[in-house]
Amino acid sequence: MDLRTDSFCANPAVRTQWYVVADAGDVAEAPVAVTLLGDRFVLWRAPDGSVRASTDRCPHREAPLSEGRVADGCLVCPYHAWAFDAHGVCVDVPSSGPGAAIPSAADLALLEVREHYGLVWLCPGTPAGEPPEIPQDADPSFRRVTSGIETWQVSATRMVDNFCDVAHFPYVHAGTIGPDTDPVVAAIEVEALDAEFVGYQYTVDVHDEHGVDVRQRMSTAFHLPFVVRSNTFYESGQRAGHDRVLLLCATPIDDVTSLFTFVSWRNHDHELSVEEFLAFDRAIGAEDKVMLERIGGVLPFDRSATVSVRSDRLSVEWRRRLAALLAQ
Ligand code: FES
Ligand SMILES: [Fe+2]
Repeated sequence: MDLRTDSFCANPAVRTQWYVVADAGDVAEAPVAVTLLGDRFVLWRAPDGSVRASTDRCPHREAPLSEGRVADGCLVCPYHAWAFDAHGVCVDVPSSGPGAAIPSAADLALLEVREHYGLVWLCPGTPAGEPPEIPQDADPSFRRVTSGIETWQVSATRMVDNFCDVAHFPYVHAGTIGPDTDPVVAAIEVEALDAEFVGYQYTVDVHDEHGVDVRQRMSTAFHLPFVVRSNTFYESGQRAGHDRVLLLCATPIDDVTSLFTFVSWRNHDHELSVEEFLAFDRAIGAEDKVMLERIGGVLPFDRSATVSVRSDRLSVEWRRRLAALLAQ
């Protein structure tokens, strides 16, 4: 395959991966339409409360099932009201009358779907693994808040490249992180940090707002294809013991349009409102969006098409592994 010209969304290997497609709270009484990798899918809730997913196409005349409704535990098509149960089995064709045989070709093929961290994750093919696991989610000392879902006119490839990059902080994030961040990025070692994430760890010493020395232990790591995790642990200063995890998720709607979602875990800030809890990371995301929406197209997979330097090491490793996945 030619990685310079082919659409990464059309690559079969990306269909074996997991993507955030919706906020779990938005999948309630009505079916929900989502677009992933250029295809439309429908999500709905089965009577047991679990989320179900299928292509957004009725087997009868291809009407969008997401425009229908959920009734008596079934997804009902808006066109001729065929009804599909929680297993995708077509259990009612009103025009045929009660008791008439229903062809098995009328059944929907269900797709793999998971609910984690207040988000719905969809794998449109046969999953090669599971969505990334965040151990702090099971730790009751941590509070989790999910950002909700935004659409960016940005390729998911450029989003992950940005999430792996700290060299833009003093410039793009002058309004949040601050313009005084040291522009020099230390040399890093990229390695597997655990079974699911590849990245690097580092320590930074900063003065906090009271002039006190604060040592922060940080890590940034990716999970293929488009998830980045950032950890911050405060070793000293007023926030000593504070522990934060930020999961940044990019979902390709198509090659150049993406969903942006983040999930934040902290073992502190339990007293804040949801919006207060999210405010800083939301503002950082908005700064990245402005910058990235100025750059068109997909990040070239051919690494010689762009110039990378020492501070791009994590992004370069992510791109190398993504290209290897696409070449499978
Ligand atoms: S198109 Fe769905 S029931 Fe006819
Ligand atoms: Fe950024």
